[in-house]
Amino acid sequence: MRTQVCIIGAGPAGLLLGALLQQAGIDNVIVERQSADYVLGRIRAGILEQTTVDTLTQAGVGQGVQAHGHVHNHLELVFNGQRHSIELTQRTGGKVVTAYGQTEVTKDLMDHRAAAGATTLYEAKDVSLQGFDSAKPVVRFEHHGKAQQIDCDFIAGCDGFHGISRASVPPGSITEFHKEYPFGWLGVLADVPPVSPHAIVYGNSLRGFSLCSMRSLTRSRYYVQCPMSDTVADWSDERFWNELKLRLDADTASRIITGPSIEKSIAPLRSFVAEPMRFGRLFLAGDAAHIVPPTGAKGLNLAASDVKMLFEAFSEYYSSQSEAGINGYSQRALSRVWRVERFSWWLTSLMHRFPDTEGFGQKVQEAELSYLMSSEAAQTMLAENYVGLGG
Ligand code: APR
Ligand code: PHB
Repeated sequence: MRTQVCIIGAGPAGLLLGALLQQAGIDNVIVERQSADYVLGRIRAGILEQTTVDTLTQAGVGQGVQAHGHVHNHLELVFNGQRHSIELTQRTGGKVVTAYGQTEVTKDLMDHRAAAGATTLYEAKDVSLQGFDSAKPVVRFEHHGKAQQIDCDFIAGCDGFHGISRASVPPGSITEFHKEYPFGWLGVLADVPPVSPHAIVYGNSLRGFSLCSMRSLTRSRYYVQCPMSDTVADWSDERFWNELKLRLDADTASRIITGPSIEKSIAPLRSFVAEPMRFGRLFLAGDAAHIVPPTGAKGLNLAASDVKMLFEAFSEYYSSQSEAGINGYSQRALSRVWRVERFSWWLTSLMHRFPDTEGFGQKVQEAELSYLMSSEAAQTMLAENYVGLGG
């Protein structure tokens, strides 16, 4: 088989790149290790920056988010038992964020790809990447019991943190930056109305971080900070709802409608960046190149901005035979990646209880929250990062 761009991974990054390439008439094939159902079963964050919504629309996949997304023009922070609202739109020249689940984004992209007749090979085994240091990259794998080979111009590594793309690069040519946080997030999905259909609520209390989010007017997503040594079995629904309410202000807590969980999981928090994001004819995008902690919901948005830059580089190459875009991709993407890494780290540091932090760190955190609430400039910094930075 031959294609122009072979995409590894059918997560949001790979599917969105596929949709943009398809729209521009650039031939592409996606090779995915899991089944489509498995990919759709992963519950992740659900806040889209304006530019992510615009990129989905550009790719021809904007209808779902336009029809079913919930626009938010402020966010709420709870600390010291009080809730504070931070306006986003007037501070950012009219930008908003939209609540729309990653599962829905992925499903819209999959349906669109199927309707366009583009090839996605699910359940591909033993994927290996070769020749990307030459003009003739090759992707090999086993598909439904048969050995397959795809010859291509470029490989797009969109296969997440544990994928094969980054692992295929000679260790000496890649630098990795890691930071782990000493806690995780316990997430619960429940078919109950959200505490607020107009804003996400981020809480910092003596008992730890909490977050109230939504998927729709009838489905909510909540989180509490917990030790990574906890297991889901330690957290009955009752314990979860009680703990969540204890971490919020009295008014927010009184508005929480509880119900049986339909999904419950514990995820670690980490920051990670791999540099560069290009190795000859192999390009990394999304979680394959970087991870952010979920505070601020930047993972999917950062993947979407990488993909938009990579798409622009490929389309420049095919429309004008110029390599300037592909040569500049890594530097351009990393400049935005690091600014988003900084924001996700900052919001994580501001809103969590750090078990290893002494009284001094705690006092500095309280001072930062009080400065934030008293400073228009500090709130504008939060707002412009939250709605999404330019590229
Ligand atoms: N071969 C083929 N596919 C693979 C391989 C492999 N060796 N390894 C992993 N994959 C697939 C995974 O099964 C997954 O479907 O690559 C896909 C990567 O998807 P994500 O992990 O979702 O990564 P990405 O698309 O970059 O995600 C962007 O969405 O899922 C969130 O946390 C993620 O916030 C981030 C954003
Ligand atoms: C979510 O809706 O799952 C969500 C929202 C905001 C975050 C993280 C996750 O910062």
